Order: sequence, then structure tokens, then C-alpha cells
Amino acid sequence: MAEVTMEKLVTLCKARGFVFPGSEIYGGMANSWDYGPLGVELKNNVKALWWEMFVQSRLDMVGIDAALVMNPKVWEASGHLATFTDPLVECKNCHERYRADKIDLTKPCAKCGKSGTFTDPAAFNLMIKTFLGPKEDSSTVAYFRPETAQAIFVDYPLVMNASRKRVPFGIAQIGKALRNEITPGNFIFRTREFEQMEIEYFVHPSEWETHFESWLARMHAFIDACGITASKVHDHEIPSDELAHYSKRTVDIEFEYPFGQEELYGLAYRTDFDLTNHAKFSGKELSYTDPVTNEKYVPHVVEPSFGVDRTVLAVLLSAYHEEEAPTGEGGTEVRTVLRFPKRLAPVKVAVLPLSKKPELSEPAKALAQRLAKRWRVDYDETQSIGKRYRRADEVGTPYCVTLDFDSLTDDAVTVRDRDSMKQERVKLDDLEAYLANTLNT
Ligand code: GAP
Repeated sequence: MAEVTMEKLVTLCKARGFVFPGSEIYGGMANSWDYGPLGVELKNNVKALWWEMFVQSRLDMVGIDAALVMNPKVWEASGHLATFTDPLVECKNCHERYRADKIDLTKPCAKCGKSGTFTDPAAFNLMIKTFLGPKEDSSTVAYFRPETAQAIFVDYPLVMNASRKRVPFGIAQIGKALRNEITPGNFIFRTREFEQMEIEYFVHPSEWETHFESWLARMHAFIDACGITASKVHDHEIPSDELAHYSKRTVDIEFEYPFGQEELYGLAYRTDFDLTNHAKFSGKELSYTDPVTNEKYVPHVVEPSFGVDRTVLAVLLSAYHEEEAPTGEGGTEVRTVLRFPKRLAPVKVAVLPLSKKPELSEPAKALAQRLAKRWRVDYDETQSIGKRYRRADEVGTPYCVTLDFDSLTDDAVTVRDRDSMKQERVKLDDLEAYLANTLNT
């Protein structure tokens, strides 16, 4: 049926508690978004899936969780102070600012409509500056990290020492990154505060190409596991004159959002750029000696980088469906259903007593409590059962469990499947096993 639009998605996200406009009671704060009760569950499930696929299940991977504000020398060594910039232009008439690479400079200013008023592009550093401690001068300047990657490079010798890993191996981190984006927008697509899931994979310099290809395939496997529509995902080889200052090869994985095809993730070959620079700036030895061959070298790095918020957006857009469904009274109606992979669904089971009467609501609440030991559960007793099914569909809950008057004598409940809408009578004693069968898929 109808394609999902950003307007529909943003409305649903606010109404159902996935994503709210930030600071709303104060009139909002441009481009700031808060994850609500369902959004935080979805986001946590995305991060848990990623950690399981790339850290927990792999013997060649370990994780860290580092500070957001690091020694400012890190950003000198990494090249971010000098080169982490976007080209900025300003309209001389209305003073609106734009990213020069995102607009057509020959067209009139989108805000005031005047032509030929743009300044020459100037490099604008995207790092967000702050001061640490009570003194505000050059000695206390610090920066919020614009990527989680650098902490991995800086902690590399300590991780090596503590975990005794051998190349090839990787360090992973999930955490916030902050950038003073010139033009944030498109909901949670581009914000000034976002979360990344990054891996720095350390390899022998002669082997980077093989690792690059296998990480590209693994990134696509994660995309598939998230239920992101494969036909809307495209690899984009970044031309050499557009590569970031640290990269020799980058493939962006792009997604067809309603506002156009844009970056979802990036895979970069960072060479030994970061470790060599940190060794130079810190004076510390950051090379590796192969215990078998005794060869000493600075490992090269393949970096798969994932945005959490862009994953959530692509997951929501891919899951969103509107379809004709029977009303239960002979007619049909449009049902909105979020077809999340069950593993990612924020709520796994909705427990619905057929009636609010205590003889049903009390055992239903006890059942909800029992299932909540294993899964996120919702308990809903208001309005008709049909309306409650629709509410559960709209937030992508895979199973509705209905307790009716027969349940009191046959010790069974009706389990309704979100996708097929089929209903099955299941014995209460078998319920956990029945649900567990598919909920982890
Ligand atoms: N360490 C490499 C790096 O940071 P990047 O392409 O600048 O590379 C990696 O960022 C990922 O972080 C992007 O693919 C995207 O998913 C996410 N990301 C970057 N900027 C973002 C922003 N302003 N808002 C939301 N997500 C962003």
C-alpha cells in the first residue's frame, strides 16, 4: 500500500513513544530528539544485536567504553583540529548559513530568495568545543569527541597488553559522538549529538584488501539482520578526491530514505595513519611484533562504522507497512504494522484480558508479570480486542496473548501472530517455550 513518508513516521514515533522532539515543553530545541519508552528499547536491541554479532560471538574482537572528552592532543594527532571541516557559505543578505557541498550555489538563497549573495566557502571545524574546570582560557579548552574511533587508537597499547590479542583483531565501541553540524535535519538522520558503533580492525598491511571485503559483507549481514530493505541499500565507492583525510579507500553504504539516497554506514581503510600519528604525537611505541615471524610493523586498520540513529531510522522505515486487514466485523480497514525482526521489536508480547473484570484481569496481570521475567511485555485492558490488536501492530509487537473466560477452565490462551494475524490456542504451561521458539529470530 502507500509508501511511508517522513511525516507519517515522525507522527507515529511521537504518538507511540519512539522518538520525541527534544525539550518540547520549552518550545523545543531545533534538531534535538529524545528516545521515548519504545525508542530506547528499539535502540538497545539494535546495539545488543550489533554487540552480539561483532564482539560477543567473535574471538578476535574485544570492546571498550571510553571517555567522551579526551586530551586535546588526540585531535591534533588525528588531524581533526586541522581538517575535520565542512565548507560553509553565508548569504550576505539574510546571513543564513549553508553547507556549500549540499546546495547549488548558482541558485538563489532558499531563505530570502536573493541571488548571487553567497560568500566564498570557508572551512568550518565541526568539533564542539568546551572548557573543563572553572577557568575559561586556552589552557582548559577541550573537545567532545566527533567519532568514537580515536579512543580505540589511543587505548590500543593498553588493550593489547590487557587482552593479549594477536593481529588480526579488532576493538569495538558503542557511544555518543558530537559534531557541530552546519545543517542538521531529516529527523534523527543528521543531528549534532548521535551514537556510533565502530570497529577498528587491526591487520597486517599486506592483508587489508581481504579484510575490507569481508567486513563489507559482514556489514550487509547486519543490515539484513535488522530487517532493513535490501533493495534500498546501495554501496557507493567514494572517489579518491573526496576521501576523508585518513582514508585510502572508503565505501559508503547508502539507504534510500524518503528524502533521498544518503549514507547509512561507512567502511574505510585508514592505513596506519592513526597509530603512526599517535605514536609521533605521544612519543609512545605503537607498533606490533608478530610473535611467530618476529616481524615488527604498525598495524593497518579497516574501520566499519555504523550510526545507531541512522540504523533506527532505516529499521523503522523498512518495518513500516500499511495494509488492508479484516475488522473482525466482516469489513476491512487499513492497519499500520511495524514488521520489525522479532529480535528488535521493543515489546515482545502484549497480554490482553478479554474483559476488565477482575476474574480475568488479575490472572492476566499475573501472566504478564510472569512473561516479563524473560521479555519486555505490555499489559493492555482498555477498548475492544480489535483496537488493542491494532495498537500492538502499530508498535510492532510480535505476539498478543489473549486470556478469555475459557482460559479459566482450559488453562490455555490465544496467541495471535503480528504478521500472519493467525491465532492459535496454546496451553499456559507451554507458553514460554512457544514464544521462545521464534522470539530470538
Ligand atoms: N570514524 C569514522 C566516522 O566517524 P563518519 O562517516 O563521519 O565516519 C560514521 O560517521 C557514521 O556515523 C555514519 O555512517 C553515520 O551512520 C553516523 N553519523 C555521522 N554523522 C552523523 C550525524 N550528524 N547524525 C547522525 N549520525 C551520524
